[in-house]
Amino acid sequence: MTVLVTGATGFIGSHLVRRLHATGVQVRVFCRPTSNLSVLGDTRNLEVVYGDLTDQSSVVRAVNGCDTVYHLGAATRGPWEDFQGATIGGTRAVLEAAKQAGVRKLVYGSSTAVYDLSRCKSEALIQETSEMEHRPEARSYYVQAKVAAERLVLQALEEGQLPLCVLRPAVVYGVWGPRPAFQAGFFLRNRVFVLLGSKNRLVPLVHVDDVVDAFLLEVQRDQATGRVYNVVAPGCPTQKEYLREYRVAMGIRAPAVFLPTFATASAAFLAQGVLRVMGRAPLGDPRYRLARAAKSVRYDIAGIQQDLGWRAKVSMRDGLRQQADSLIKS
Ligand SMILES: NC(=O)c1ccc[n+]([C@@H]2O[C@H](COP(=O)([O-])OP(=O)(O)OC[C@H]3O[C@@H](n4cnc5c(N)ncnc54)[C@H](OP(=O)(O)O)[C@@H]3O)[C@@H](O)[C@H]2O)c1
Repeated sequence: MTVLVTGATGFIGSHLVRRLHATGVQVRVFCRPTSNLSVLGDTRNLEVVYGDLTDQSSVVRAVNGCDTVYHLGAATRGPWEDFQGATIGGTRAVLEAAKQAGVRKLVYGSSTAVYDLSRCKSEALIQETSEMEHRPEARSYYVQAKVAAERLVLQALEEGQLPLCVLRPAVVYGVWGPRPAFQAGFFLRNRVFVLLGSKNRLVPLVHVDDVVDAFLLEVQRDQATGRVYNVVAPGCPTQKEYLREYRVAMGIRAPAVFLPTFATASAAFLAQGVLRVMGRAPLGDPRYRLARAAKSVRYDIAGIQQDLGWRAKVSMRDGLRQQADSLIKS
């Protein structure tokens, strides 16, 4: 049995590859000639197929002969053309190749970023059937492309084109990951945390090891086929709780300022005006983005818990400490 991982050299993909490798299955990784394979550890028993998600023939080569495909490859930075080519075009190419090759299962890595929270009340429960973002272009290229790619996947799922399932993780953190973001805030000049919205706003997180568990369970359990699941650690911390653990883990004692949403919306409005005057088009609609980022919602994880028996095993404290250690060592 051969399993293919796209996005194998990315943050989540590299953890998935290492775990699959450890279980003894034959792993094939789809990488670009420029990808950094050293993040995969021991590559001796890995099959490497070089190509690009924008190149259909290389995707076909990678998928052919595979039993299972984990599709995690996507653009996460760069100009719109990269998002369009890799995330949307790449997903189309993977779907087509997997259908032609008759793979046993395709697991698609989506994100909770695809949800539309604009009409949600505070503390609303977001279910897998909740609406997808209706203004993705107002958010970012990343969201715009993830929404478009997911629509392709959902269409294939509804039409029964092939056995597939979708996972929507929240913000993923863990060893080798980027410094965990505050979603709605930043660490100003390494001196003060500037956080948007209330101290009690919920921060949906999930540890990378728990995300990998979810990907592996998806393939082991037949009932996952045709399903979409949120992947979020239960007991979402508030911004205040997250900040406290973050400070301890990273050894940072800096003070924090919480800005009310109306103040940040006004600042965003001003910034938008300044950018226009300077002739520079802002990405998306900053007011909409901020309003979305400052929303406090919960994600329903009953589906993945009941169907797959998934449980988040890594506590926020342990996860942040492990990540801090990995940041110090790197
Ligand atoms: N990280 C999160 O918090 C999070 C949360 C929810 C969902 N997700 C989703 O999970 C997936 C993986 O995320 P990540 O954080 O691991 O991202 P990442 O670290 O940026 O990795 C992206 C991967 O995609 C590959 N890729 C990009 N463009 C490509 C192209 N044109 N052809 C072939 N490969 C290409 C990259 O290859 P190179 O190594 O060559 O650059 C890399 O391996 C994405 O689909 C993302 O939307 C992530």
